[in-house]
Amino acid sequence: MNAAPVLALAVVISGRGSNMVAIARACQGGQIPARVARVIADRPGAGGIALAQQLGLDVQVVPARELATPAAFEAALHASIEASGARLVVLAGFMRILSPEFAQRYAGRMLNIHPSLLPKYPGLHTHERALAAGEQEHGASVHFVTSELDAGPVVLQGRVPVLPGDTAERLSARVQEQEHIIYPKVVGWIATGRLKLVDGQPWLDGHPLGQPVVTG
Ligand code: GAR
Repeated sequence: MNAAPVLALAVVISGRGSNMVAIARACQGGQIPARVARVIADRPGAGGIALAQQLGLDVQVVPARELATPAAFEAALHASIEASGARLVVLAGFMRILSPEFAQRYAGRMLNIHPSLLPKYPGLHTHERALAAGEQEHGASVHFVTSELDAGPVVLQGRVPVLPGDTAERLSARVQEQEHIIYPKVVGWIATGRLKLVDGQPWLDGHPLGQPVVTG
């Protein structure tokens, strides 16, 4: 009997790495037919590095600050991804803006998670901005990466209520619970061939996805 094909992932992080852990656990637990071929951090202080090592994952630091230019960083990042054999790039709390050329190179093969219900609140400080605007709901979005920041086609969103007395920290914690559900799910959809990007549009189960799927 042939083993099911397993999708190799490069998970790129800048910080705590909790989404990376959720994806790695889904892989290691057999929930999705994927494996984390490499975790790449853009700074040696990223908290997720130790977590990745505890999970027995291959980790490489591509230290953006030590590389002279954004182009040099992207060249090193590309080399690390390619050397890992990854077929899907998973940006998981990666806090740098990639060039349009880099995004184009990985079109349909690179995902990001963003802590808002896109197209609301692209960019930074999403929880603070949602609270300041008096939103009643907030959440996170998994999307394909395109050359425009936080604007690639959204595939799946996890919604949470904004509760009375919420702080950005409390809201962020609620959003992260959703992130840890929706990100492994989308990676699984790609790994099982259910989700593809066709001419810039996501197709799920053989149909164009007009609207993101929403959970929560
Ligand atoms: C996540 O909430 C993710 O949505 C956000 O960073 C956090 C990383 O958490 N990403 C962005 O803001 C990207 N613009 P983690 O390191 O614990 O996975």
